Amino acid sequence: MSRVLINLAHAPYEAVIEGALLSRIGSELLRVLENRPSRVFVITVSPVRRRYGKLVERSLRQAGIDHEILVMPDGERAKTMKTVEALAAKMVRMKADRASAVVAVGGGVVGDVAGFLAAVYMRGIPVVQVPTTLLAQVDASIGGKTGVNLVAGKNLIGAFHQPRGVLIDPEVLKTLPEREFRAGLFEALKCGIIRDPEIFEFMEGERARILKRDAAALQWLITASVRVKAAVVAADERESGERRILNFGHTIGHALEAETRYKTFLHGEAVAWGMIAASRIAAATGRLGPAEQRRIEESVVALARLPKIRSNARNIVRRLTSDKKALHGHVHFVLPLAIGKVETVADVPESTVLRMVESLKDKNKR
Ligand SMILES: NC(=O)c1ccc[n+]([C@@H]2O[C@H](COP(=O)([O-])OP(=O)(O)OC[C@H]3O[C@@H](n4cnc5c(N)ncnc54)[C@H](O)[C@@H]3O)[C@@H](O)[C@H]2O)c1
Ligand SMILES: [Zn+2]
Repeated sequence: MSRVLINLAHAPYEAVIEGALLSRIGSELLRVLENRPSRVFVITVSPVRRRYGKLVERSLRQAGIDHEILVMPDGERAKTMKTVEALAAKMVRMKADRASAVVAVGGGVVGDVAGFLAAVYMRGIPVVQVPTTLLAQVDASIGGKTGVNLVAGKNLIGAFHQPRGVLIDPEVLKTLPEREFRAGLFEALKCGIIRDPEIFEFMEGERARILKRDAAALQWLITASVRVKAAVVAADERESGERRILNFGHTIGHALEAETRYKTFLHGEAVAWGMIAASRIAAATGRLGPAEQRRIEESVVALARLPKIRSNARNIVRRLTSDKKALHGHVHFVLPLAIGKVETVADVPESTVLRMVESLKDKNKR
């Protein structure tokens, strides 16, 4: 078992990473919620409920916790105000009050929706994150960002609402579809490249064990990645400076997702392309040596077969300036200087960006 403290000034909390934690979720909830909740509202989706609902309910019952399970529609398309409103209306009907708590059991979509619901329900009630995808375990569940999409774009409505605790059971990853699992690995690799060479080396050296979802390997990898995210978030709770390094691979990744209307790439896969692009930009601008650039690129492509890039490079680059994270029209790139060290750069010439995005298509030929 490992515990990682997310040391925020006003609301410190812990992530607990342990196999079979889900079967003890009831007692864990009572431990992390400082006041015993009048009732717990578990927000989940049917693929997760089908597999783990009974386990969760049994544990809640054993702990004597009054609870309701609310199933929301699955998938990114359900990450909307409409879903939040429907859940809130159900909670009102079920007499949820300010002493109730929300528990998010699912992937990043459930975490973002349930987190936002908890942030706004009666102006805020506690939430506990119980992430069940690799992406949510290493990334989305930590840091308190919550929100939903608008037709105009992703994550445009949201709030910071830190969870009271994050309960991570790596065993639930056994049932995750292969593609989702591999896409999540890219966020772990990102943690290695931006801040922790040990993660990077572990993912190079123990790749076979990781891909086989060996329990001990996943326990180590998740813990190390959560540590990176926790450290970055604690240094910059509201994303003004340091936290931007978490966007490594995301500048071009987001553009690629948007350009393909979120249909071609899973988020992690788009980030994988973005990490290759960023490392090539770093090499092209003399920040990263060619050998380390190759090492980064090889470690990315070894984790999954990425869907090919068929979009026009110019259209992808045009998307960059319209990104929510482009400050005053300047596109910020997080570029590696070495494995484990990155820098944020605002003055990469557009021609270089274009050339490097275009160059990604050489990988299409594999
Ligand atoms: N808040 C943040 O800081 C943050 C960070 C990164 C990503 N996100 C958000 O996270 C979302 C993506 O999350 P995701 O990749 O987890 O996708 P997801 O939540 O859609 O889950 C992917 C699929 O896996 C299924 N699933 C979940 N757990 C499972 C399990 N244990 N076994 C079998 N199937 C399971 C889900 O039902 C779903 O169909 C995006 O909306 C993104 O914006 C948020
Ligand atoms: Zn991401």
